[in-house]
Amino acid sequence: MAGWVNPLLDSRDKRLPRIAGPCGVVIFGVTGDLSRKKLMPAIYDLANRGLLPPGFALVGFARRDWADENFAELVHDAVRDHARTPFREEVWARLSEGVRFVPGSFDDDASFDDLAAVVADLDEQRGTGGNHAFYLAIPPATFPVVLKQLARTGLAARNSDQWRRVVIEKPFGHDLHSACELNEIVNDVFPEESVFRIDHYLGKETVQNILALRFANQLYEPIWNSNYVDHVQITMAEDIGLAGRAGYYDGIGAARDVIQNHLLQLLALTAMEEPLSFSPGSLRGEKIKALSAVKLAEPLDETTARGQYTAGWQGGTKVVGVLEEKGINPESTTETFAAITLNVDTRRWAGVPFFLRTGKRLGRRVTEVAVIFKRAPHLPFETTMTEELGQNALVIRIQPDEGVTIRFGSKVPGTAMEVRDVTMDFRYGTAFTESSPEAYERLLLDVLLGEPSLFPVNAEVELSWKILDPVLEHWAKQDRPEPYAAGTWGPPSADRMIAAAGRTWRRP
Ligand code: BG6
Repeated sequence: MAGWVNPLLDSRDKRLPRIAGPCGVVIFGVTGDLSRKKLMPAIYDLANRGLLPPGFALVGFARRDWADENFAELVHDAVRDHARTPFREEVWARLSEGVRFVPGSFDDDASFDDLAAVVADLDEQRGTGGNHAFYLAIPPATFPVVLKQLARTGLAARNSDQWRRVVIEKPFGHDLHSACELNEIVNDVFPEESVFRIDHYLGKETVQNILALRFANQLYEPIWNSNYVDHVQITMAEDIGLAGRAGYYDGIGAARDVIQNHLLQLLALTAMEEPLSFSPGSLRGEKIKALSAVKLAEPLDETTARGQYTAGWQGGTKVVGVLEEKGINPESTTETFAAITLNVDTRRWAGVPFFLRTGKRLGRRVTEVAVIFKRAPHLPFETTMTEELGQNALVIRIQPDEGVTIRFGSKVPGTAMEVRDVTMDFRYGTAFTESSPEAYERLLLDVLLGEPSLFPVNAEVELSWKILDPVLEHWAKQDRPEPYAAGTWGPPSADRMIAAAGRTWRRP
């Protein structure tokens, strides 16, 4: 029983959040949206919750002629505008003491020498102990040059009692081949255990709740298989358009932007077997097994759909079509809606289709995993009494209105045996008093703690591309994506796709 710890005698209470040890974060891409809206606010929120070490340091690197104070002002404004927790002067004052800025461009050796000097100074002045995370919030095309600089200046290297980690944001390549190349470039400089790939969906409480719901209960797991489940629908619908991100989105599209990562991760968590434990190896191992069993349903003409939004109405406002958005190529064939049909070839899931869809400018913002059950084998009711009866469903509402809904048939009050669908709801907002941390808060803290469970490994990224590549190649040979009006639920081909499989989409 070597290594076994009796949980009753283990003095560390696992419910208490762990506090990061001495460390600092260097962010590349500080002027971008991600840094301002997510990363800087998350760092402040962690500081506010007392989860950062006292000497924590935040270094920004960008092509701006700024001093530390100018960068601190940017961080201050970002925190003021976007932090989840209330702004407190004393927290900000402490945090801002560790804020530094290094001006420079990625191909300029001298700026990276300056960065190395600043990092060394921080170890002296702030006691960051040689522990640093490098956050690449920059386009992937610039990863190689930055990684090379980190290697050249020794910033990627560490002594045995220190750590150096690199955090990378998707897209991890644009197909399997480029993802493998990218992984090689990253692993040339940082060993795999020091690479943290962000899929921010894994940082969401409600996504982690898929594991709690499935594996902390006796109720669901016995029916979580093809004996009882008819099919699964995973939807990530957004009401926003390109939101000023045409430069990133054009040429990428809905499948690469969202299905390759967020939706396939949701599928993996829904379909995987119970991990031996929640250790990083076990959890990722089960996700890898699930993704390895995923097969595209064919023919792709019938089992996939893609679309592009045209002008329409959203929440009472007239909005333009994607081809009229600022910064987009007016001839662009980039899809803003994508749907695919997958099978998971395991004993548990044989014959259960998984339908994945995502799109911009859809009817409303909602992300959910809906497990739709088979109909009861026999209904001893007159048909007129039960015609409204749908299939039982368990819906994990990832956002907004986070929670879980169960749909089942219930007797309508009255003398007749009339049955109608009702829902039973669990809502995070009412069941718990504390608000959920933002995904980036959780993930940044995990980077600083060196806790890798919620970060996809190389193998997951590559398997996801293996699943998606044939769809992308198929679409590349087709005409334009099918138009759909903003504010609707996507192109007619998406309805045809699921109808061909004898099912219909939920209208969340
Ligand atoms: C990002 C995509 O990963 O997720 C965006 O690049 C998308 O296009 C965003 O808008 C949605 O995230 P969330 O957390 O609002 O669902």
